[in-house]
Amino acid sequence: MTALAKLRGFREFGPDEMALRNHVFSRWRAVACGYGFSEYDGPPLEPLALYAEKSGDEIAGQLYEFVDRGDRRVALRPEMTPTLARMLGSRGRAMAKPIRWFSIPQLFRYERNQRGRLREHFQLNADIVGEAAVAADAEVLAVAVDAVRALGLGPADFTARVNDRRLVVAVLGALGVPSAAVGGCLEALDKAERTGPAASRQRLEALGLSSAQAEDLLGLAAAGAGSLDDLKRRFADAPEVLATAAPLEEHACLLEAMGLGAYAEFDFTVVRGLAYYTGIVFELFDRAGELRAICGGGRYDGLLGRLGGDPLPAVGFGMGDVVLGELLRERGLAPDGPPSFDFFVIWLEEAQRPLALEACRRLRKAGGSAVCALRPRSMRKHLAMAARSGARRAVVIGPDEAAAGAATVRDLETGEQERVALESLLPGGVARSPAGLANAGTGPESAHGEGDR
Ligand code: HAM
Repeated sequence: MTALAKLRGFREFGPDEMALRNHVFSRWRAVACGYGFSEYDGPPLEPLALYAEKSGDEIAGQLYEFVDRGDRRVALRPEMTPTLARMLGSRGRAMAKPIRWFSIPQLFRYERNQRGRLREHFQLNADIVGEAAVAADAEVLAVAVDAVRALGLGPADFTARVNDRRLVVAVLGALGVPSAAVGGCLEALDKAERTGPAASRQRLEALGLSSAQAEDLLGLAAAGAGSLDDLKRRFADAPEVLATAAPLEEHACLLEAMGLGAYAEFDFTVVRGLAYYTGIVFELFDRAGELRAICGGGRYDGLLGRLGGDPLPAVGFGMGDVVLGELLRERGLAPDGPPSFDFFVIWLEEAQRPLALEACRRLRKAGGSAVCALRPRSMRKHLAMAARSGARRAVVIGPDEAAAGAATVRDLETGEQERVALESLLPGGVARSPAGLANAGTGPESAHGEGDR
């Protein structure tokens, strides 16, 4: 690798990749706005202390951190939640609750490079702050599911696995696990799928669990997708387990009522790696189980207070663009390429150049996208260039057209062409233009290739 090569795990977005990124972001934004969320942003560089304890060891070990020129210990943001918690902890008191905010930050984590995991990614974050009711948990999961559905994926492609940390803690209590080992057990469960049963058992025993307790816990983890009812039957004589199952049952009912029952299932192994979660947690995965999580989130009622702000309850998620992008490409749901544009305007002699420039100005003003030839060429070369440019139509203003106050509009796909009055290339031209221009896709939507899927 030369000194100037792109850093490992970072991305360059040429027009093709940018088309996919814009497509994903625009659908994310539309869904979040559709649920009444408002967009916000924060600084990409933050004090190191914001993450050092609040996010948990895993993220703390992946920070891009350094000492700045003012001797401050800083870090590139690895996640958005601490920034959001600080922002709303200080200004949330005066705001009407619940607060629904979303953001699409670029995040940085020094991760080991692997499929679906890079050192820089974007995340849709949507959070509801100031509402402790389970309805808020169900609503953020609905936003997450819809943000994926809006990209063309359905229940055969992905699923949300849902659990509640309080339920896991209650189960650990019912199994007689000492409370000092609870945090370690949550971490072990979070990693169980990746590390495998033998390493997980070792880890649990090192935390002080008896081999029977470790066996019991791993048995539950292996049955991961077994139903909540199975778990309730198994712990029928443990009231705290039954009590902590209730919010999950309400959550499932609400999702059902929202028509999203097919997208969510209970999974005892989902506990989330981040330290601040306190209640219902969830992750979205591809159904085939080949990829890392598309999305993760949950309730974190203590974080705003711990950061020194108002102790408001909060729930939300982060959805990455990397795994989702892989899934969309795999399913043929990525946009075909960079957006094309409407008109390539050709002039043949210097005398027609001002007319061509004026025509471009008018076409753009009418909401279309237009490129003007930059130098004189033969008609043949101009047309070849227009065809390669990605334009839908060529507008030719040669000496004949100029003399007649007209332009020749040629459909670059079919080769059909017609002569139209130059005057018809007017602002608001859709209504006033001839048939040839009327369907030219002059709105910004079609100009950017949106709405095809
Ligand atoms: P997270 O589970 O660390 O949660 O990340 C959420 C999602 O971001 C993951 O499911 C994954 O799709 C994506 N992601 C994370 N790391 C990488 C990476 N290195 N490369 C590519 N994609 C990645 C959070 O960040 C929480 N702050 C989410 C949240 C918001 N919880 C409540 N509100």
